[in-house]
Amino acid sequence: MSYYVTTPIYYVNAEPHLGHAYSTIAADVLARHMRQRGEDVFFLTGTDEHGEPVAQAAEKLGLEPRELVDRNAPKFKELLPQINVSNDFFIRTSDPQHEARVQEIVQIVHDNGYVYEGTYEGWYCPKCADFKTELELGPGHTCPIHKIPLEREREENWFFKLSAFQGELEKLYGERQDFVRPKARYNEALSFVQGGLEDVSLSRPKLTWGVRLPWDPDQVMYVWFDALLNYVTALSYAREGEDLTERYWPAFHIIGKDILKFHAVYWPAFLMAAGYELPKGMFIHGYLLMEGHKMSKSLGNVLDPFEVIERFGADALRYYCFREVSFGQDGSVSAAGFEARYDAELANEYGNLASRTLAMIDRYRDAVVPRAEVDPDLAGGGDGLAGLEAKVCELLDRADLTQALEEIWKRIRRLNRYVEETRPWDLAKDEERDSQEPGRPRTRSGAGDRLDSVLYNLAEGLRVTTLLLTAYMPETGERMLGALGVEGREIQAFGAHRGGQSIERVPPLFPKIEAAAA
Ligand code: MSP
Repeated sequence: MSYYVTTPIYYVNAEPHLGHAYSTIAADVLARHMRQRGEDVFFLTGTDEHGEPVAQAAEKLGLEPRELVDRNAPKFKELLPQINVSNDFFIRTSDPQHEARVQEIVQIVHDNGYVYEGTYEGWYCPKCADFKTELELGPGHTCPIHKIPLEREREENWFFKLSAFQGELEKLYGERQDFVRPKARYNEALSFVQGGLEDVSLSRPKLTWGVRLPWDPDQVMYVWFDALLNYVTALSYAREGEDLTERYWPAFHIIGKDILKFHAVYWPAFLMAAGYELPKGMFIHGYLLMEGHKMSKSLGNVLDPFEVIERFGADALRYYCFREVSFGQDGSVSAAGFEARYDAELANEYGNLASRTLAMIDRYRDAVVPRAEVDPDLAGGGDGLAGLEAKVCELLDRADLTQALEEIWKRIRRLNRYVEETRPWDLAKDEERDSQEPGRPRTRSGAGDRLDSVLYNLAEGLRVTTLLLTAYMPETGERMLGALGVEGREIQAFGAHRGGQSIERVPPLFPKIEAAAA
């Protein structure tokens, strides 16, 4: 099965910040997870380089738009390896192949009769690159997102007949309740559709920085259609000499709530107009807030991902994003919150479980995982290890990144309790004592068997949870699975591995903050 996941493509007029990294990391978790399930994955991200915001930013700097985008796009691209992102391609909408394909597709939409010439008048936000409907206006004709006064614009341009898709979109939302997740966003999209669709402009006459309409080269395409099309154009040229469209389309989109309307309403309509299959679905995440505000360049409250990574590593940041804020909702992030979770959960819970397990196997069993049976005490119950992988897969099928992580974490806690309950160090002492009893044959004692079982179950629990965590924390997962002597990376059930492999002790995965600072 193929699995195609995309991120929004990022405006290059700002520096990348954690809000951008957030969408990309989410898509990366899904891409990595699906690869571990044996899916044929294609993961796309990139930059949105045309349109007014970019042209304006360039003008302010006294640059040509092309110079600005060439300067800024690499910042987004370079961020990816630093946040352990495994994209298969990076699209730039200024790529000539993208531009050519956009022209082909918009010509189809035109030829199919969904384009006409008209006059547009409305309230325009240059930062959103969007005309606002009456319902979307903030107080005193302001932009509800950027809080700036809107410009009244009137222009001759080409229109896309969005209204022609009223019935089709209502049908889509009626038939596919999971087209947009979470449910609150589905409802928002549906009510936008039910509010009655007006035609939208397809082009802008005043701009030159964009893709020209093939039948009217004085107009450039409205940046949103140009941008949305990246999801299909990329497949036509990501691999030289190959068209991947058949293999991967349709996509699953990860986006933020501010761009819901474009993806959930304009995009399916445009695809229908061009004769393409609709996306598999989309997940709409909320905002990461700092001190209660959306992080953004203009508000100046940005948490610099580079700084966080330098201090704590990318995996800790990736973990924190989906643990602290329920994926799909808004939530606050802060340095203090980050440090608290780093210490309490990564260092104390996961890190400690890992180092204790490896140390005990090393010490009591010469670094070889004993072969034993699954312990029903650890497998069963609400937080037992049996069925964990199926549960996580089901949650990630719905892009529920936070709940899936919570399920894994419950098992990490369960494993730590198991150590406390079974007290392997006491079992080791008993085993030692039994073996020294005079006249006792040197067969395995009851304590020795129990110790085998406990150590096997700990190693196996750590293997299964780490396999699932690897999508969230790829570097840590690799180190840990390497230390545990696990070869495959495919997701497997608890008990699927019989033990017998050698392990290696590793330095702490997440050194305590005070220790790291010392
Ligand atoms: N270029 C458009 C998207 C076109 S997709 C065909 C765009 N770019 S953006 O750079 O402004 O934003 C990209 C994504 O980053 C959006 O999904 C947005 O929600 C996300 N975020 C930007 N700041 C954010 C937070 N503070 N928190 C979470 N995500 C936010 O829109």
